[in-house]
Amino acid sequence: MKQFYFFLLASSMLAGLAACTDDTVAPEDNWVYAPTPYQLQVPAHFPILEIPEDNPTTEEGVWLGRMLYYDPITHADSAKSCATCHVQEHSFTSDPTVIPHINLGWSKNFLWNGKLQNGLEDAMLFEVSEFFKTDLSRLEQHPDYPRYFYEAFGERTITYELAAKALAQFERTMISANSKYDRVLYGDQTEFFTDAELNGWEIFFTEKGDCFHCHGGILFTDNDFHNNALDTEPDDGLMAITGNPLDKGRFKTPTLRNIALTGPYMHDGRYETLEEVIDFYSEGLKRSDTVDPLMKSVHLGGKHLTEQEKSDLLAFLLTLTDSTYITNKNLASPF
Ligand code: HEC
Ligand code: HEC
Repeated sequence: MKQFYFFLLASSMLAGLAACTDDTVAPEDNWVYAPTPYQLQVPAHFPILEIPEDNPTTEEGVWLGRMLYYDPITHADSAKSCATCHVQEHSFTSDPTVIPHINLGWSKNFLWNGKLQNGLEDAMLFEVSEFFKTDLSRLEQHPDYPRYFYEAFGERTITYELAAKALAQFERTMISANSKYDRVLYGDQTEFFTDAELNGWEIFFTEKGDCFHCHGGILFTDNDFHNNALDTEPDDGLMAITGNPLDKGRFKTPTLRNIALTGPYMHDGRYETLEEVIDFYSEGLKRSDTVDPLMKSVHLGGKHLTEQEKSDLLAFLLTLTDSTYITNKNLASPF
């Protein structure tokens, strides 16, 4: 037995010597593929986060995704990075029509008109291959990226699919669940709504304001498409994708989490402020053929809230701001 160990020891020393002296050993021979599972902090009061089996979340994958998100190398001409338009302090949006990146791990449809509906990986594939037209050879020639890809996926060839997987992993870590709303209802009961917030909450979640039908649930979106009565001649919306005239004017319901940070509002950024949005729902509704049946007061032009009710509804919407999300260092630029 002893002899056997000696043999092992001696041969591994020899192998070590050989590796040191052999010029043909390229640095990539020493890369290690041993990804560490990433501990996703999914809030207890959120729905289950579904993660595709072929893209488990790992430390290495999330790191790579974060690099790709912030590095202009991802863009064909290095003109911009994702973060040029998706700015953390604005909940990863910027004016005027950019959609924020927040809790997208739970999202089923992407883009205002629902052009991408096959999951987060697929949405990211579109972003790198079609929108950014990433030049993969530049990633291949970079001093670090080939190793990052190997460490994340065990692959030596960089592809759009792998870049998309890494970005999707990073996006899944972009979880916002620490607004005043969360703390009051799901926290340790040390915070309470003001009277105005409480009243606004009631308006939001009852027939009085009727907001919850579409912006309901803990994610503050039903992940569906609606025509919320913006125009008598609505823009195409989902119809641009399906060709179905019944889909005209139907847009993705945006989450209202962090809504105070993400103006201007609507798919075309037509409203600068939340006051304007509330005025719209109160007395600016327009009839058209495809208006959603849930917009019950459209024949009256809106809900006709009092000034007090409007300001209470606004106070409630402001409780959806999560300031820890926009300062979370793990989501900030790695550079
Ligand atoms: C030039 C500004 C700009 C840059 C840069 C940019 N985006 Fe966007 N992004 C937008 C706009 C505008 C929208 C909404 C477009 C629409 O719906 O038609 C959007 C929407 C999205 C959405 C859909 C979100 C949702 O809830 O439906 C995803 C996902 C996304 N971007 C990811 C990325 C990624 C990943 C990158 C980098 C590879 C990136 N974006 C770079 C402007 C940008
Ligand atoms: C029938 C479904 C529906 C109802 C009911 C509804 N909304 Fe919306 N909401 C939407 C859709 C869809 C959009 C995006 C429309 C667009 O951009 O064309 C939207 C957009 C918004 C926006 C802008 C979000 C952004 O990121 O630009 C705010 C704020 C908003 N709604 C608040 C409310 C409030 C407050 C109520 C209740 C008074 C309400 N909504 C009722 C479906 C609805």
